[in-house]
Amino acid sequence: MIVLLIGSGGREHALAWRLAQSPRLTKLYAAPGNPGIAAHAECIDLDPLHVELIVAFARNENVGLVVVGPEQPLVEGLADQLRADGVLVFGPSKAAAQLEGSKGFTKDLCARANIPTAAYERFTDKAAALAGLDQFGLPVVIKADGLAAGKGVVIPETRADAEAAIEDMFGGGFGTAGAEVVIEEFMTGEEASFFALTDGKSIMPFGSAQDHKRVGDGDTGPNTGGMGAYSPATIVTPEIEARVMAEIIRPTVETMAAEGMPYSGVLFAGLMLTAEGPKLIEYNCRFGDPECQVLMARFEGCLISLLADVAEGRLAEAPVPTMAAQTALTVVMAAAGYPGTPQKGGTIDGIDAAEAAGARVFQAGTALRDGRIVANGGRVLAVTATGDSVRAAQQAAYAAVEAIHFPTGFYRHDIGWRAVERERAADLA
Ligand code: AMP
Ligand code: GLY
Repeated sequence: MIVLLIGSGGREHALAWRLAQSPRLTKLYAAPGNPGIAAHAECIDLDPLHVELIVAFARNENVGLVVVGPEQPLVEGLADQLRADGVLVFGPSKAAAQLEGSKGFTKDLCARANIPTAAYERFTDKAAALAGLDQFGLPVVIKADGLAAGKGVVIPETRADAEAAIEDMFGGGFGTAGAEVVIEEFMTGEEASFFALTDGKSIMPFGSAQDHKRVGDGDTGPNTGGMGAYSPATIVTPEIEARVMAEIIRPTVETMAAEGMPYSGVLFAGLMLTAEGPKLIEYNCRFGDPECQVLMARFEGCLISLLADVAEGRLAEAPVPTMAAQTALTVVMAAAGYPGTPQKGGTIDGIDAAEAAGARVFQAGTALRDGRIVANGGRVLAVTATGDSVRAAQQAAYAAVEAIHFPTGFYRHDIGWRAVERERAADLA
């Protein structure tokens, strides 16, 4: 099968690596790809948001399956256009991708389907939002409704800061994403990511992970797209997974189908594990980055067959995907300045040495200059290793990080710390 992968990040490098191992693959294209992806695919200089060109390319090259990595093309309707032209695609329709594209849409769906989540109100008007703050305690959670590259959430501790955040959102501080605002009750607990594949009818759990969103060690500093992750997330016990499937994922898939917006693709639930049980923070309509890197490191099987079964609506007949029992852990190496403006052009050496030591180095924001890999974005590498415990995977990943020479880069030193502390406590008990 000829496969076209859409995207250019570490998530897509991990997908490309696994797609390239499928015996069914005859040719892999990536649009636009990156130097790491180029080891597995022919990279095509096409903008993922240029829907007509992507559709034309897929048709002309007899692409049998399009795998869409990032959310923006899905929210803008890429999957609909491909399906309309008879091209098989892994990824939800524009209507179904509203689960990520509009936070208010998802909160209303939760209300209709009785899905546990934080109490909320939607506002399209600044004065109403300011008055609406009265219904919430502090801290309070204020979100721009639309896509904001992970930056549209603020959690003010004071009323004055909450009012300033509302002023900023309605003042255009988050672009059109902030034309509508959701105010939410603040939930406390530990966060986890949960993934399920669905073709709109059948649902298959696809593993858990824990991301590290803050830029600094000890979960300090501003939020990022994710500085590292590990899978499985040990706090997502089989009991919690069963509740997440029954109380959150299944009612979502059933309600979307019943309302004429069947969801096909991967449903990524951001969860808060509260004292009352798991609650939904938000949905994403694609794999996480860097969560995908650790899921792919554990996945065993033919990725093309699985994703094609989802795309064709035949998930019920697909073999249950197997995931290695080992833990996978990934450390993101970012360019100085991230999550602000990253320093571009910094040289990177030692990727081969890191891989020789048994790790996988997935490339995200990289470019090739004079035959050398250089930094070309905020998150640059995702250094990924496996082990029999979180500690073992952490040691292996950091040993590989040490082998990489990236003077203008930085990374967190404590990826997996919550699980490592739990392992230590269990050893002492
Ligand atoms: P989101 O973009 O919706 O995932 O939000 C980004 C981050 O904000 C989440 O990973 C949480 O850490 C935090 N967050 C979002 N909503 C809530 C909430 N209702 N209560 C507590 N924290 C939240
Ligand atoms: N790592 C979080 C995300 O992909 O949204």
